Amino acid sequence: MGGTTLTTEWTIREVLNWTRGFFEDAGIVQPRLEAEILLAHALDVDRLHLYLAPDKPLTSDERTRYRTVVKERRSGVPLQHVIGEVSFYGLRFHVDGDALIPRGETEEMLDQVMKRAPRDREIRCLDLGTGTGVLAVCFARYLPLATVTAVDVSPAALKVAQQNATLNEVSDRIEFLESDWYEKVEGRYDFIASNPPYIATSDLDGLASEVRDYEPTIALDGGEDGLEQIRRIASPILSYLQPGGVVLMEIGHQQGAQGVEIFTSSGLVDVGIERDMAGKDRYLVGRCP
Ligand SMILES: C[S@@+](CC[C@H](N)C(=O)[O-])C[C@H]1O[C@@H](n2cnc3c(N)ncnc32)[C@H](O)[C@@H]1O
Repeated sequence: MGGTTLTTEWTIREVLNWTRGFFEDAGIVQPRLEAEILLAHALDVDRLHLYLAPDKPLTSDERTRYRTVVKERRSGVPLQHVIGEVSFYGLRFHVDGDALIPRGETEEMLDQVMKRAPRDREIRCLDLGTGTGVLAVCFARYLPLATVTAVDVSPAALKVAQQNATLNEVSDRIEFLESDWYEKVEGRYDFIASNPPYIATSDLDGLASEVRDYEPTIALDGGEDGLEQIRRIASPILSYLQPGGVVLMEIGHQQGAQGVEIFTSSGLVDVGIERDMAGKDRYLVGRCP
């Protein structure tokens, strides 16, 4: 695709090989995989199709569409923003710059929730800092007896979350609240889940530009020591949990010991840490006595 101008006929295989090198030079970590995802997106097919027809030449329109997304990605726009969606826990979610791109660690947190959530009775679940709505939507989809409240202080993020609830056909099961944590929350919950901002303000500048320049700062900034929002959520939590109710919270992998202290001093019991797949401290768990 020399000089990003495609003049001769290019097959799927050739285009992918060329892009892999182009992305490799730019330091993109999974160049071949990203090339395939972008080509499938530009051709509006799934990735398997690329393997079934590797010798198919691209039409001029297809080349133009592909060139546009490749250029965008190479300029540093996150892959998920280029294609506008992400798959999370088996569901599709729209993503854009108004809400954090959901991460694999958060998908793993959902496993922790699913292990603990009762299926045999109606439960109320609260998602604090819903962002794209991934946790709230998954609660509604996978826990049929759950009613869900999704909170975010960012009206733009809440719009994305509402869009995703509609996309996944659960908008009638989720109440959306624009609220500074519990400010507008009423009643008690059986389950509270949160992936709060937990990066220390002084560390924000050092983040990879894909994160720093494209993710909303409000989704990342955990204050001076990174724990400010965790404290704000934990400190009044007993007033929002049913007796026996459970809280699960994603944290930074070096925040485990302080997190346990914060949860314990908030009056939670059975406080502990669960690890992520990389073996790092990642989730705080606690129960209301
Ligand atoms: C790390 S993101 C998590 C988004 C989503 N739950 C996920 O896991 O992908 C944190 C979210 O908390 C929201 N948030 C930050 N401060 C808040 C506050 N004071 N009250 C409510 N939500 C807040 C942000 O807007 C952002 O959507």
